[in-house]
Amino acid sequence: MRRKVTKAIFPVAGQGTRFLPATKSVPKEIMTLVDRPLIQYAIDEARAAGIKEFIFVTSRGKYALEDYFDVAPELEASLRKRGKTELLETLKSTNMESGAIAYIRQHKALGLGHAVWCARRLITNEPFAVILPDDVIAAEKPCLQQMVEAYAETGGSMVATMEVPPEKASSYGIIDVKEDMGSMVSVKGMVEKPQPGSAPSNLAVIGRYILTPKVLQNLNRIKTGAGGEVQLTDAIADEIEADRDVYGFRFRGQRFDCGSKAGFLQATVAFGLSRPDLRDEFSDYLSGMAAQRNAAQ
Ligand code: G1P
Repeated sequence: MRRKVTKAIFPVAGQGTRFLPATKSVPKEIMTLVDRPLIQYAIDEARAAGIKEFIFVTSRGKYALEDYFDVAPELEASLRKRGKTELLETLKSTNMESGAIAYIRQHKALGLGHAVWCARRLITNEPFAVILPDDVIAAEKPCLQQMVEAYAETGGSMVATMEVPPEKASSYGIIDVKEDMGSMVSVKGMVEKPQPGSAPSNLAVIGRYILTPKVLQNLNRIKTGAGGEVQLTDAIADEIEADRDVYGFRFRGQRFDCGSKAGFLQATVAFGLSRPDLRDEFSDYLSGMAAQRNAAQ
């Protein structure tokens, strides 16, 4: 029997400089899509996939994340007193079972591979997931759940993947495809942020991974890669070198790059429109705005 994936690592140590000045005092992961912070979307997705232990790799100035997943006795008491049961219910998704969440500090910003490696002592000999909260994925069945189901069939290591325009390839980890089986591709190589024009395909790695503990061993070598950082992509590519299986998984869903301002705004519109309590008013506003713009042209 293949071991179940019950632990997930959330690398949340980044400074979020693209969102300054907001991120001067608010961690990027607490920035809000409609009314929920980015990290809540990631946690909900992990829970839907059966994750029971949540490992945050943080850095200085991320206290707001720890508080967010703690109880808020005064707030809860005041809501209870005022009979706000719906709001109390809303807060439930922010509560974690005692001991289910761990925070590890990444003391130096040495890259994504290094961040994942910082959590190595909390992962024993078991497969684990990695979720990058910047990549928000809207999907009928949450992306990590799709992957956990696929992983039950394949084993190995698996990365979420999607097609990107060739001119964008140098912003991603890119897969070199061995065999394309539709929703699943077997991988013969992976390159982090290839030079323009040298990408082996247009299949990019998106921030969802299911990895074997061997990948953590590969990271022990602390090999510096693209951008002078320790790259997770390189540690996964080392698996292929060692003749172990790596798969790309074409998830069903729409991915938003909430690490960029344009992506964040697009996600805000999409999630706003998908909310029954906002849909009508918001879509009237958007169509009115589009009509005004067209008339002005
Ligand atoms: C990271 C990974 C990259 C992946 C991307 C997806 O890059 O290193 O392989 O394609 O996330 O969002 P970053 O965006 O942190 O530079």
